[in-house]
This record gives sequence, structure tokens and C-alpha cells, in this order.
Amino acid sequence: MTSGPEKQAILATDLEHVWHPMTQHSLLAGKPPMLVVEAFGSTVVDADGKSYIDTMAGLWCVTAGYGQTAIADRVYRQMKTLPYYPHTAANVPAAELARELSACLGGDLKRIYFTCSGSEANDAAFKLARQFGRLARPGENRYKIIARHRAYHGTTMGALSATGQSERKWRFEPLVPGFLHAAPAYCYRCAFGKSYPACDLECAAQIETMILHEGPETVAAVIVEPVVGGGGILVPVDEYLPVVREITRRYGVLLIADEVISGFGRTGRMFGFQTYGIEPDIVTMAKGLTSAYLPLGAVATTGAIFSAFLGELEDRVHLVQVNTFGGHPVACAAGLANLELLAEQRLVERAADAGRRFLGALKDLERYPLVGEVRGKGMIFGIELVADKKTKAPATPAIINRVVARALEQGVILGKTTMTTFHLNNVITLSPPLVITSEELDTVLAVLHATLKDL
Ligand SMILES: Cc1ncc(COP(=O)(O)O)c(C=O)c1O
Repeated sequence: MTSGPEKQAILATDLEHVWHPMTQHSLLAGKPPMLVVEAFGSTVVDADGKSYIDTMAGLWCVTAGYGQTAIADRVYRQMKTLPYYPHTAANVPAAELARELSACLGGDLKRIYFTCSGSEANDAAFKLARQFGRLARPGENRYKIIARHRAYHGTTMGALSATGQSERKWRFEPLVPGFLHAAPAYCYRCAFGKSYPACDLECAAQIETMILHEGPETVAAVIVEPVVGGGGILVPVDEYLPVVREITRRYGVLLIADEVISGFGRTGRMFGFQTYGIEPDIVTMAKGLTSAYLPLGAVATTGAIFSAFLGELEDRVHLVQVNTFGGHPVACAAGLANLELLAEQRLVERAADAGRRFLGALKDLERYPLVGEVRGKGMIFGIELVADKKTKAPATPAIINRVVARALEQGVILGKTTMTTFHLNNVITLSPPLVITSEELDTVLAVLHATLKDL
């Protein structure tokens, strides 16, 4: 335990030297960050010994829960055997993890390129898609990527360009050219003012219109988060992704599934694209790949795409891209142990069953004036807060912050949309470790009721 004077000393050091993400440091002197010292299951413990149920699995990533010693043991063994070697050579855990991932992905998604994060995976996917376009259709110029408003795809310049969240982008613009944005599948605030099913999925149709207006021969790929996570838990209707898949196929446009949040059981199947019954051309992943025990990302693609990069060396068609830490043997060992745990502890099935029950219980929150809509899929949930149910005017950030603070006082860590799209940062988010127990979910529910009923 790090308490008393030791805690104060560490926080003083932190405040003097660390630059925290997404943080206004001028406020930290009055309200220092939580000092987290240990964690197990779905519980994190701060330096004062106070326990919290972490409904956000860290940052949507500690999928198998904290304290899984099988991962730690595997990592320790690998670190002693081979701590690192560049992935231009082969190593045992990376080869085995690629094989296991291919099996989980199914279909023709058999080729895995490793990165260190979700952002890098998405950047690599965009590069793959652009080069593939040039190799497979030499007379065309397929470089545009269609993404969607509200989606988050990462922090590097390419992934940020794909991101559809104005508040994350404007300070750093101009970003990378060639990224366009369509409306998300978001019935509660339909961009077209329509209602499902009479809408005929106009949000999906807009993607087709964009492809046609841009000229299909200029469009390399469409990227989707199966369920938009950080942008507010936007859960599409079941037909949406199949229709988008059909449209992209019709125009020779690749479909990239960003599974950085949706993957590894989060939506009730191993991958979000499986939840919706489609097969993308490229899949990007990170977070739950190692349950965040070590940083690792990956891009999976089909044999068909991979073969376009084959040729003689002098053809210079191979992938000219390297990440120093991509295919890191120790991170891949963590990934292997993590996949074993997901299977042994049946965590994906658990996400589907316990998630369905919890969503049903959460829906009851819609009776409070502040709650506009509760939505979710598998083990990911959003509670959209409004100032007025009729107009759907979003609740202010001050209200959202109060909800999160009150829950924290009661020992529950909730997430929230933070600086995503201007004026639409009004969603409480939950994406707990898949090991979360029924009792813990009951506690979370009770805290939500206590917090939301009189705000
Ligand atoms: C859907 C999605 N894609 C990509 C990323 C970027 O991943 P990373 O932070 O590992 O770069 C994130 C991160 O939250 C994400 O939620």
C-alpha cells in the first residue's frame, strides 16, 4: 500500500513531471489524480485503500479482468527466454498468436500484421488499403477512406483523420487528406430525421451515395467500429453492417472493421463483425488483444489482399512498413495467454448472457427525466443523458461530471464521452471486464439508480 506521506510524495513527483492525457493540469493541484496501486477482477484500489468497481475496464481494455496471473506468468517466462527480436525474423509467440487469431477471425482473414496500438493498426490498415488499390486496380486511384461521424479511430495523424469527432481534431488540423465522413447508424439522433424501419437505412445508403459522388475508382475503403465506443455507444440496427458490406463489395471498396473496442468478446461474440454476421476485408484490433497487460495491436487481412503484395523483390510491391515493437514476443505471449483465458473462463459467452440481462435491468433507468436512452450490445453500454426528453437537448457536461463524481464517491468508476463531438458529450459509458460478477453488476445498477433518480 502506498499511503500517507509516501502517497503525497508520489503525487508531488507526478504533478511536477508527468503530462497526463486529456487533463487540464492547472486543476490538478486542487484535485490530484487518483493514485491507483492495485487491482483484481473488476476492482481497482487507490492509495488510501478505497476499492472501486471499474465499469470501464481501464480504457475499454482489461477485458479478462485484473489479476490474471496466468498472463503474468507467461510474460515472465517469455521475457527470460527471448525479450525481443525484430519481427523481420520469426518468433514463437507471434507465430502462434497469428495462428490463434486467424482461427478466431474465421473465413479468409488469415494474415496478421502486428503493431503496438490501435492507432497504429488503423494507420497500417489505411496504408494496406491504399497500396492494395494501386496493386489490384492499377488504372485507378483508390486512396479515399470513408469513416463516420462520432467514431474514434485513434490519435496518430492518419487514425485521427479517420476519427469523426470534431473536438479531438480541430487543434491539430489540417489533418491527412482523403478522409471523408458519413452519418453514423444512430437511431436516437438520426441524421436524416427519420425513424427505423421506415428510414430504409438512409445512413447506410449515404455511404453508397458518397462512393458514387466521389467516384468508386477513388475510394479505397470504408472503416467502421461495429459498435461506436468512445463516441457514445452507438449500436447499429442488425441490418446496418450487412448492408454496408454489400455496398462496399458492389464498388470494389474494402471494408475495415475497427475492433479495437468491439473485439475480444465485448459485443457478445469474439469480434463485433461476427455479432452482425459480416466478413470484413481488414480487421484492426488492440486493447482486449492482451487485455491490456501489455501494449499490442494487430491488423488482420484476407489471403486475397495479401497475395496482391507478392512478387519479385525488384517489383517493390511488398509492404514497406515496420514497427520496432510490432510482433514483440513478450506482448504476443500475453496475447496468447489472454486468448486461452477467454476460452477457459468462457468470457465471450458470459459477455453475451450477463450483458443481455444487465441491459434489460439498465433499461429501467429510462424512467428518470435525465435519461434519454439506454443502449448496449454484449458487455458495452451507454446511458444518454438529456436536459429535456422531448427535445432531446443533451445534458450539460456539468451534469455528466456530477453523475460520474457521485458514482465514484459510492465506489463505482463510470466512463463518459469526453470532448468528442461538439455539444454531444452526454453519454455515460460502461464497458466492464468480462469477469464482472452478477453481484458487482447489481451494485453498479443500485449506484446508477441512486445517482440518477434525484439529479
Ligand atoms: C475504436 C478505437 N479505435 C482505435 C483506438 C486507438 O487505440 P490506441 O489508443 O491503442 O492507439 C481506440 C482507442 O480508444 C478505439 O476506441
